[in-house]
Amino acid sequence: MMTSVLFLLASCSEGDRLVELPEPVPDGGMSVEEAIEARRSVREYSGGTVTLEELSRLLQSAQGITSYRGLRAAPSAGATYPFTIFVVTGNVEDLPAGIYSYDPEGGSLEMKAAGFYLDELASASLGQQCIASAALTVVMAADYSVTTSVYGERGIMYVHMEAGHISQNIYLQATAMGLGTVAVGAFDEAEVRELLELEQGLTPLYLMPVGRT
Ligand SMILES: Cc1cc2nc3c(=O)[nH]c(=O)nc-3n(C[C@H](O)[C@H](O)[C@H](O)COP(=O)(O)O)c2cc1C
Repeated sequence: MMTSVLFLLASCSEGDRLVELPEPVPDGGMSVEEAIEARRSVREYSGGTVTLEELSRLLQSAQGITSYRGLRAAPSAGATYPFTIFVVTGNVEDLPAGIYSYDPEGGSLEMKAAGFYLDELASASLGQQCIASAALTVVMAADYSVTTSVYGERGIMYVHMEAGHISQNIYLQATAMGLGTVAVGAFDEAEVRELLELEQGLTPLYLMPVGRT
């Protein structure tokens, strides 16, 4: 797998480095009820590796396409889907450390930058060590205009509601797979924006470090 991922990255041009995600792990072996009961915010991780199949499942549960009409795993006002999901990885099997954006339609990750950025992301998050010690951190960023262009000012509230839906899916999916996560809202927006080189219009709303417990 490592060889094929490296080949994929090497064979693509700079700025166009795609990693096709593998089939997600089939299920976490836990019922929804059990996952809800077991869910806790987890800020300390063992340092173990998260597999690409587990990451694939996390992303599928966050924003994956779950209908032939293109509808996604989390509800969205008017199916406007204002969120882009980024992943800052440090310890994911068969995936070089870097900053990636998730393409739900393509079932792939696009590498934005190679290298280990979790320490910088932790610094941008008031030094929260859960981010530095995580295997990866999911960054949820929204383009408000996607939803406000349909719903006006009320769309701002809808985007925040949607953040909760996506975040809870990640919480429950991580729990079901025996991984730990926590919703991090305390961060310097400008610093996160700069680190991820977010395009104009995208606002980072939530960070979710994920690691083995
Ligand atoms: C909007 C929001 C922002 C949060 N921000 C942080 C944060 O920056 N750092 C952190 O460690 N936990 C953060 N949390 C997690 C809460 O501290 C946690 O949910 C709460 O202590 C209850 O614990 P539980 O999630 O285990 O039930 C946040 C939760 C929410 C809903």
